[in-house]
Amino acid sequence: PLVSTAELVTEARAAARAVAAFNVITVEHAEAIAAGAEAAGAGAVLQVSENAVKFHGGDLAPIAAATAAVARASTARLSLHLDHVEDVALLHAAHAHGFGSVMFDASKRGYGENVKATAEAVRWGHERGMWVEAELGRVGGKAGEPPLDAHTPGVRTDPAEAAAYVGDTGVDALAVAVGSSHAMTERTAALDHALISRLSGAVPVPLVLHGSSGVPDRELRRAVAAGMTKINVGTALNTAFTGAVRAFLQAHPQAVDPRRYLAPAREAMARTVAGFLRTVSG
Ligand code: G3H
Ligand code: ZN
Repeated sequence: PLVSTAELVTEARAAARAVAAFNVITVEHAEAIAAGAEAAGAGAVLQVSENAVKFHGGDLAPIAAATAAVARASTARLSLHLDHVEDVALLHAAHAHGFGSVMFDASKRGYGENVKATAEAVRWGHERGMWVEAELGRVGGKAGEPPLDAHTPGVRTDPAEAAAYVGDTGVDALAVAVGSSHAMTERTAALDHALISRLSGAVPVPLVLHGSSGVPDRELRRAVAAGMTKINVGTALNTAFTGAVRAFLQAHPQAVDPRRYLAPAREAMARTVAGFLRTVSG
């Protein structure tokens, strides 16, 4: 069934677990996430990023409708979330298309500008019953972004600033920069566990880890134990999916029906989803 991100996050936090949020690009992603969640017996967040909406020509409607339909038909509890939104028009569209939650991303701006834009997005979202996540610090690593140096001030999230930010914006959850980076294809990231603990003590709302594809299982477990409540995974799904497509096409160079390679790719993605869910929601 389709449930809200707010309830999945609240339940996970109360049980000292986390909820995993997976990025949806195509319908097969949504189907694989639902299958993986059913196999693991866990709920999950289906999240569509602003970049994925751009891929679909800027129109949120088709992928939103398909993803919501997959969630409704599943026996797993799944929510619909709009991820990394910078464009306020898309935030407004998200509400119109049935998204109960959104990550508003002003993390590239300075503190004052981030607070101003995010507080406005939170006010707008809360008036409509939406759950709003935002980011302080820079996770980095998204396509087209220059590499970030973890030692540059403002890259890792500062606990005192994070506490002020949550008070100043009213966000429901905070994405923090603690050593992960977006778009990693190997699980080699080392998290700053001391910083996670300090943030968890300083910030009253649930913490969100972005770029979790590159984080090993043991690091994820430690992060969840220290209070990380939403674990965002995108690239690992694509690594599994594309690897299966590549293997199939190498073995069957004459194949033309996309269902022949999409079926094993979707299954590989579902196994990856179930693996992350067993790690963070178990
Ligand atoms: O918001 C999306 C996540 O942070 C996904 O990051 O693709 O590196 O797993 P990832
Ligand atoms: Zn992210």
